[in-house]
Amino acid sequence: MNIAAAFEPSMPGISPGIYDNDDFTAISEIAHREAGLVLPPGKAMLVYSRLAPLVRDSGCATFGSYVMRIREDNEERARAICALTTNHTFFYREAHHFEHFAQELRPDFVKRLERGGKLRIWSAGCSSGEETWSLLMTLLGPERNAGLAIAQRDVRMLSSDIAVHALHKASAARYRAEDLKPVPERLREAWCRIDGTDATIAPEMQALVRFRSLNLQGPWPMRGEFDVIFCRNVMIYFDTPTKERLVARFAQQLAPGGHLYIGHSERVTGPALEHLTSVGPTIYRKGDRR
Ligand SMILES: C[S@@+](CC[C@H](N)C(=O)[O-])C[C@H]1O[C@@H](n2cnc3c(N)ncnc32)[C@H](O)[C@@H]1O
Repeated sequence: MNIAAAFEPSMPGISPGIYDNDDFTAISEIAHREAGLVLPPGKAMLVYSRLAPLVRDSGCATFGSYVMRIREDNEERARAICALTTNHTFFYREAHHFEHFAQELRPDFVKRLERGGKLRIWSAGCSSGEETWSLLMTLLGPERNAGLAIAQRDVRMLSSDIAVHALHKASAARYRAEDLKPVPERLREAWCRIDGTDATIAPEMQALVRFRSLNLQGPWPMRGEFDVIFCRNVMIYFDTPTKERLVARFAQQLAPGGHLYIGHSERVTGPALEHLTSVGPTIYRKGDRR
C-alpha cells in the first residue's frame, strides 16, 4: 500500500507517492535502534507529518532518499529522532509525586543539606522543563527565604532529554503565565515572576540545574549516584526489554535509599525489581521498605 496516497499532504514540496511502507519500516527501525522508540504501523501518518519538513529542508525529493541520508549522516539522523519524539508535558503533572516528595523525602533532604550533605536529582526525559521546575519549587518550598537558604547548599539537578528543541525551551525557563496554573499558589508566588501573560522561573532556581542532551539508550557520562530520579511518561514509548534494561540502569544509578518516580501508566518489571521496592503508586525506593 502506498500510505501517502491515502491523504493530501500539506507540506509544500511533498507530493503523494513519495512515502511508502518500506520508508516507514526503515524509519521505525532506525528510531528503535537509536532511541528505543517503538513506532507501530498506526503511527505511519504521524511519522510522515513529523518528518516531511525535514525531508523538504534536506533537499531530498523522497522519503526513500531521506532514509539513505539519515543512515549516513549522524546529525540529520539526530534531527529526525528529535522530530519523532513526543514532548507533551505540563507543570505539576501527576501532583501526587510532588506531594510524596514534599511529605516523605523533603524533610530529610533539608536536614541533610543543613548538615553539609549533598542532594542529587535527575529528571530523565525532562522535555521542556515543566517537571524540573515543579520538582525544584517543591524542594525549595513556599517560604522564599528558607528556599533561598536551601538553594545555597549542595543541591544539583540534572535534567536531560534527547530532544534538543525541548531542552532549549527548558533552559530559557520562560513560559506562559497560564501554564503555571497547576502549581500551588504559594510555590508559584515564591519562585515565578509573572509579567502580564509571561512567566519566568527564579534565577536562583535556574542556577541549580544543568540541562543536557542525553539519549537514555546510549552511554551515561554521570559518575555520581542520584537520590531521586524522575523518569515519567518516557518509557511508554519503549518496548518491554528496553524498559527493563533502562530501569535496571536507573536502579544502579540510584544511591541506596534513593527514589525512582515513573509515569502513571508505567510499571517497573524485570531484574530491577530485585533492587527497587514499591513505596507508593509509581514510586520505588532502592533497597528494602523502611
Ligand atoms: C512525554 S515527554 C515526558 C516529559 C515529562 N517527563 C513528563 O512526564 O511530563 C517524553 C520525553 O521523553 C524524551 N525521550 C524519548 N526517548 C528518549 C530517549 N531515548 N532518551 C532521552 N529522552 C527520550 C522525549 O524527547 C520527550 O521529551
